[in-house]
Amino acid sequence: MNILVTGGAGYIGSHVVEELQKCGYTPIVYDNLSTGHEAAVPEDVQLVEGDIHDVRFATHIMEQFKIDAVIHFAASSLVGESMTNPAKYYFNNVEGSLHLLEAMRGAGVDRIVFSSTAAVYGEPEEVPIKENSKLNPTNVYGRSKLMIEKMLADYDMAYEMRYVALRYFNAAGASPTRDIGEDHNPESHLIPLILKTAQGVRKQVAIFGTDYPTADGTCIRDYIHVCDLARAHVLALEHLLKGGTSRVYNLGSENGFSVRQMMNTAKKVTGVDFTVVEEVRRAGDPAVLIASSEKIREELGWVPTQSDVQNVIATAWKWHKGHPNGY
Ligand code: UFG
Repeated sequence: MNILVTGGAGYIGSHVVEELQKCGYTPIVYDNLSTGHEAAVPEDVQLVEGDIHDVRFATHIMEQFKIDAVIHFAASSLVGESMTNPAKYYFNNVEGSLHLLEAMRGAGVDRIVFSSTAAVYGEPEEVPIKENSKLNPTNVYGRSKLMIEKMLADYDMAYEMRYVALRYFNAAGASPTRDIGEDHNPESHLIPLILKTAQGVRKQVAIFGTDYPTADGTCIRDYIHVCDLARAHVLALEHLLKGGTSRVYNLGSENGFSVRQMMNTAKKVTGVDFTVVEEVRRAGDPAVLIASSEKIREELGWVPTQSDVQNVIATAWKWHKGHPNGY
């Protein structure tokens, strides 16, 4: 079966491409390479350089490759940037997804797995966070993804386009088997910043806020290995290909780790006593984000097997050591 992976040259997309191939699917990567990396696409995978805004071209590609379903990653994904440049996020994420859906309608493709985010919840009222928790995003990035989820529900209702939206918590780690990993520019995520410091590419790494209402005063997050995420996408795809109805699922390990715990674990894994400094809080960071992933475990039988934080950091470390300047 032929699966169009928009944003398949990006961090999570490239890991899903690997999992699709392992499971016998034929991924076709559709990416404009604005933030994705050509080197992240294996030689035996077709890379189509295209933009999701280009409805006619995307329709043509879906017809040409006889696409059975779409997995949609192509998006802008920097929370900070979304606050200073909201237009980019409404254009690339919301309008871009609308254009993609129109291309799918034009080509008669009616199944889509969508890359959503825990940012749709905002500051949680309770943890662990369930899918029916209040949706109250505190940044434009989260709002743009929530708007797309609503668009998908309307396309399902009106045009019977079935979808699975996957709300990721903190995606991290790298493939143990393929030479792919996390390479954002600029980098804002905790684990890559820690590892770049351990490598000596950066002088120090900061803890943003030590006065949160948590045991050690630093923020707690739920880190989920990118290969466990990838597995969930294939399960979601199979659910849709079997005729399953639309679904929304959280994807997290259900374990919370503080920023300090992450720094200490990284020191152990890397064997480097890198410099950590304490800074004030970063605006908009909730104190604790932990997923309940019970729904996808029960309904699709998803079991994360690689999300132990030591393994998350060790696999990311292997990637960073081999690629001190990214791809
Ligand atoms: N942090 C630091 N120092 C840094 C970078 C981050 O202390 O240099 C802290 C943050 O304050 C936060 C934690 O480390 O408490 C994790 O930060 P990340 O930026 O790695 O990730 P976020 O939790 O902010 O964001 C993640 C995803 C987003 C998604 C969000 C949902 O990366 O795409 O979860 O809440 F929107």
